[in-house]
Amino acid sequence: MTASPAQEPSLVASGGGSRALRHVAIIMDGNGRWAHARGLARSEGHRKGVEAARRTVEAARDLGLDVLTLYSFSTENWRRPAGEVRDLMSLLRQFIVDDLPRLKTEGVKVRIIGDRDNLSPDIKALVRRAESETKENSHFILQIAFNYGGRDEFVRAARAVAAAVKTGTLSAKDIDEAIISDHLDTKGVPDPDLVIRTSGEKRVSNFLIWQAAYAEYIFLDILWPDFSAEALSAAIDEFRQRERRYGGVGESAG
Ligand code: IPE
Ligand code: IPE
Ligand code: MG
Repeated sequence: MTASPAQEPSLVASGGGSRALRHVAIIMDGNGRWAHARGLARSEGHRKGVEAARRTVEAARDLGLDVLTLYSFSTENWRRPAGEVRDLMSLLRQFIVDDLPRLKTEGVKVRIIGDRDNLSPDIKALVRRAESETKENSHFILQIAFNYGGRDEFVRAARAVAAAVKTGTLSAKDIDEAIISDHLDTKGVPDPDLVIRTSGEKRVSNFLIWQAAYAEYIFLDILWPDFSAEALSAAIDEFRQRERRYGGVGESAG
């Protein structure tokens, strides 16, 4: 049996129905090209990218979204030169150190999704701190996908499910979509309604491949450091023009 995708009630009123919007997930791409176009180092593009991320968190909260997920380092990004990987690690560190106090007082619940095992001990500690210091917050969830890959997440979930079957706490015949979802890093968070990718690339790059099964996708030519509240609003307006059918016949079918 395949259940229809969970259509949770919208907390952001906008006509409801297929246009309900709670969760926007963003593939923040184009930092390198932004820097290159200005004759700057890639690291400068990443630094500007953090500023764009900060603006986007504010904009998403102002727009009344419940969840924003930002893809900031993929399991494939380890293939980059060591210096760039170091820069990206440092930017996460710096973001948590600089922004945690404000996020905490603004009611933001921070969650980091991805594989933590390969992160350095100090980053692991910062990630734990960010989550534990904001765990009581409930206004808005900021999910940062860091060392995240959808396939890697699924493999880790499969191992956890297999272990539960082995110990007898779960029986194989009871494995269903809800059980899989509950073993993913995003457990308890509604699936994304809208996935935005900047920079003109039109691919998913291993982002939320299970959770975004029925998301709407919007690909923008804008490079991530240039992303703005206006760009987010425009994407949401486009989302609201779409009809989500979930395999059915839709609202206009007669
Ligand atoms: C996105 O920008 C940041 C990360 C993937 C970490 P890129 O660094 O991928 O920028 P481009 O794609 O080279 O322009
Ligand atoms: C996707 O961007 C990952 C993040 C934005 C963190 P990439 O720039 O790494 O993706 P590809 O390599 O172009 O697919
Ligand atoms: Mg890129």
